[in-house]
Parts: sequence; structure tokens; C-alpha cells
Amino acid sequence: MANLERFLTIDELMAEARRKVPKQFFDYADSGAWTESTYRANTEDFRKVFLRQRVAVNMEGRNLATTMTGEQAAMPVALAPTGFTGMQSADGEIKAARAAEKFGVPFTLSTMSICSIEDVAENTSKPFWFQLYMMRDRGFIERLIDRAKAAKCSALVLTMDLQILGQRHKDLRNGMSAPPKFTPKFVFEMMIKPRWAMQMLGTRRHTFRNIVGHVDAAGDLSKLSAWTSSQFDPALSWKEIGWVKERFGGPVIVKGILDADDARAAVAHGADGIIVSNHGGRQLDGAPSSIRVLPEIVEAVGHLTDVYLDSGIRSGQDVLKAVALGAKGTFIGRAFLWGLGAGGEAGVTRALEIIRRELDITMALCGERDIHDVGLHNIYSVDFPPRMAPASNR
Ligand code: GLV
Repeated sequence: MANLERFLTIDELMAEARRKVPKQFFDYADSGAWTESTYRANTEDFRKVFLRQRVAVNMEGRNLATTMTGEQAAMPVALAPTGFTGMQSADGEIKAARAAEKFGVPFTLSTMSICSIEDVAENTSKPFWFQLYMMRDRGFIERLIDRAKAAKCSALVLTMDLQILGQRHKDLRNGMSAPPKFTPKFVFEMMIKPRWAMQMLGTRRHTFRNIVGHVDAAGDLSKLSAWTSSQFDPALSWKEIGWVKERFGGPVIVKGILDADDARAAVAHGADGIIVSNHGGRQLDGAPSSIRVLPEIVEAVGHLTDVYLDSGIRSGQDVLKAVALGAKGTFIGRAFLWGLGAGGEAGVTRALEIIRRELDITMALCGERDIHDVGLHNIYSVDFPPRMAPASNR
């Protein structure tokens, strides 16, 4: 798609995605839970971290490349698992995975994706990561893990913060579903988003293809959605990490950690990395931002495992702040989804380019040439209120 260079920020890609993507799917990506206060805190708190400027430092030959859980990464950024990605743009997971592969950053496919594990594997050439929810139907989970192995996925991301779904008012009001229900409202939305609609007509991938055909209720989509909401396991425990690790036989990164005690428990139960995350503000409204809790989690387990961060990254500057506060890498969700909605595969590439340029220039102006040298010494101040007396185990 021509002329994506005119978008200079992730916010501009967001505005373009809003123009191009039917409201129910744009809103799904944009939603936070309840009042969306945690969703807002995720971005607001990045602005409370101030960087230390240095001058007269040689800035030639800068390096942003690193590794994330054994994977080369052109910068400390991976694509986060996001549901319904193939509804932001036709075949969206394939487009995003291809953009990530060409750019050289890890891609994570969600269980609740439109394109299946096999669809993505057939259309890419490098291993990707697969995100897993623990569901009550352990037979289905075993088959999913086996399918991820067969597709040569090189890591699993195990989501721990969705035993029950946070209430997202926009989704409830929009009556969101995949495939979309052909209500008069949706037909009108298709008419005003003709490019999206034409591309959707050109693909057969319109529903959750990791699930359809792999569970009994699959033929009937209304039953399938009931199945999905009844399947997230409210009785999840730390023991599941070991079980998943054993079945998969490769690294398992635990996602959805917001508390130092939980981080210690995840590591004690074998996590090969953790993602500090409040699920983009989509689960517990009222929880602190990810960047705010990052330092205490790094202090608790950073010497034992790789600590990553998601929730609120909208610029390369945010990436730098997370790395300076101890993250080994970051995950972006909405930032790439808005690129996808704005311009398909090229739009995801554009989102990554925007982030890379911001990261590179910010790092240089902080007086660093190598991302591995970025640390607490690059932070001038952090303006977060203190937490309550340190909790220990409940
Ligand atoms: C799924 O993980 C979602 O946040 O919708």
C-alpha cells in the first residue's frame, strides 16, 4: 500500500485504522475493562518516566538488536498475541507474521486467532510463538500444544490472567462476534468500509480456526462461542506451567504477571520468562500500569529469568523506558493492530519502523550506542506514587 510513510506515529496509524475497520472490531482492539482506568494508566505512566539526556557522546554504529527467549530480535520488541486479528484485516495473522518475519522480530499467535496455527505456519518460513489459554478441556489443550509443536513453534506464551473475562462495555454494546452477525448495523458498517469488506470476501478465514473443527461444537458457531466462554479455566493453578512445559518440551513464557509474589511463584514453577502485563487494561480495571510495577518485579526475579513487558507501548521511547527499567524486551499489541487495520502487512511494517526510529533516536540522545548498555542510569526520575507496604504472600 502506497504512501504509508505519511504516518509518523502510532497514533496516526490508529486514526487511519478507525477509518478503515468496522467499528465492532476497531473497538474490540481498543477496549479496556469497565472504566478503562488501567487502560489509560498504561500510557499515562510512561509519561511519568523521565530520561537522562547526555551529549558529546559518540553515537556512531548504534545497535538495537538483541535476543528474546532464544530468538533474534532486530529490536527488543515482539508482536503480542491478540484475539480476532484476522478481523482487523483479512488474513491479519498471516500478514502480521510475515511483516514480523521480514522485520526480524518474534510474532506470537493467539489461541483466539482467526488464522490457525497451520495457516500461519504454511505462510511463513521462520518459527513463531504460540499463546495458550488454559481451558477446562485439557484434551483440546494437549492437541493445541501438539499442533504448535508440529508447526515448529519455538516458544509458548501461557496466559495466566484470563481465568474469567474482564467486562468490556464496548464489546457488549457492539455484540461483537466472529464471524460477524449480519445485523442491519453491521451491513451498514460494511458499506462504509468497502475495502475491508472486499478483502474479507476474498478469504475463507472468518472464524476461530484454531478451534473450529477441533472441538465437538465446532459446526455450530453460536455453541462455539458459548463453549469458549465456558472453557476458560477458573481453577487454574501454578502447577499447570509444569504440565504445559513437559508436553511442549520448549520454553514457556508466562504472561499476565503484575505482582512480585506471583512472579516468584511463576519462576519457582518453571517459567522460562515472564511478561509483566495487565492484558492491555482489559482484565482488572484498577490495577496499576505495567510500567509502574516493572521495577519491583525485575528486582524480585530479574536475576532468575527474562522479564518482558506489555501494555501501553505506543512508541520506541516507551520501549527504551521499559528496557531502562529492566525489561529484556517488550510486546506490542494495539500498536501493530492499528498498523494492520491501516495498511495490512505494510501497515504492520510501518508500525515497526515508527517504533524502531523512535527507539534509535531516543537511545542516541540518551548517549547510548547499544541497547544492551541501556539501564537505570538512563533514567532521570520516575514519578510514581509509592505502593502500600510491601505485601508478602497475600
Ligand atoms: C483476549 O485475550 C482479549 O483480551 O480479548
